[in-house]
Amino acid sequence: DSPIIAVTRRVPEAALEVLRTAGAVSLSEADRPLTPDELREQAAGATAIVSMLHDRIDGAVADAAGPSLRVVANVAVGYDNIDVAALAERGVTVTNTPGVLTEATADLTFALLLAVTRRIGEGERLLRAKRPWSFHLGFMLGAGLQGRTLGIVGLGQIGQAVARRAKAFGMEIVYSGRSKADDRVEAELGARRAGFDELLAISDVVSLHCPLTPETRHLIDADALRAMKPSAYLVNTTRGPVVHEAALAEALAHKQIAGAALDVFEHEPEVEPGLLDLDTVVLAPHLGSATVETRTEMAVLAAENVAAVLRGDPARTPVAPRS
Ligand code: GLV
Ligand code: GLV
Repeated sequence: DSPIIAVTRRVPEAALEVLRTAGAVSLSEADRPLTPDELREQAAGATAIVSMLHDRIDGAVADAAGPSLRVVANVAVGYDNIDVAALAERGVTVTNTPGVLTEATADLTFALLLAVTRRIGEGERLLRAKRPWSFHLGFMLGAGLQGRTLGIVGLGQIGQAVARRAKAFGMEIVYSGRSKADDRVEAELGARRAGFDELLAISDVVSLHCPLTPETRHLIDADALRAMKPSAYLVNTTRGPVVHEAALAEALAHKQIAGAALDVFEHEPEVEPGLLDLDTVVLAPHLGSATVETRTEMAVLAAENVAAVLRGDPARTPVAPRS
């Protein structure tokens, strides 16, 4: 009997080809996130599950799959949607897709950073509304980046890729995080480690690149926003719940900070209504890794993880339960 590989949402053909060499692919026909009931149904009898970041994969899903389940391959670098400990208890390997989306996500982070500091969305809305305008020296001024300080929260692979771009834009770089980066990495990026409070106080742009964990949920809350400069911007391309979105809307409405650019949302796909009317906010629908090349590489890496485990080989990119 060929092992069943449950795929919760459409993936690129290149990934399906890899999966078909490893087992019988059962692809969800619904072109939307599955409900918890549907997810358990899709998982029933599966040896492998290929999951998306909107799928909550917990012990109940593993139990619905049954004792055949050996691997859950999340097509994302973040895996806050997976109860890794519950799966480890059941002997199930969990994998993610680090590395392949680093540059695409850093590019999108910079696109948002530039869009919010140079008011690109606001300007485009003005033109599309066919409102009158003319060039003048005080028109739609934003903030320049040269010599300004970028505060990177979480200097992992993506944080470092953002730092490389920021360096090319002439920015000073500080970072905070659980651990200090290598001296070599700090020297190459010209990045200095700071405490989180210092980072908030001195940064002109704060960009979030930490994973979502119990410790980072609502890391950016009303207090953190008050600690930022009134001229500062917040960029979030990691996970929505790292920011208390209602507190952010309040802070922006009261001009406590200058602006925010968000690719992810606390209650995705919903957006805090208070954000939608503010011209100081740039919004994107979770596009960090959304290039043709990157999305294909992510799906193929997930498929290769499944194929490796089903062959009895070590997974290529397993995740460890968080300490
Ligand atoms: C996307 O958000 C990812 O974690 O890959
Ligand atoms: C992503 O790969 C990260 O570690 O930030």
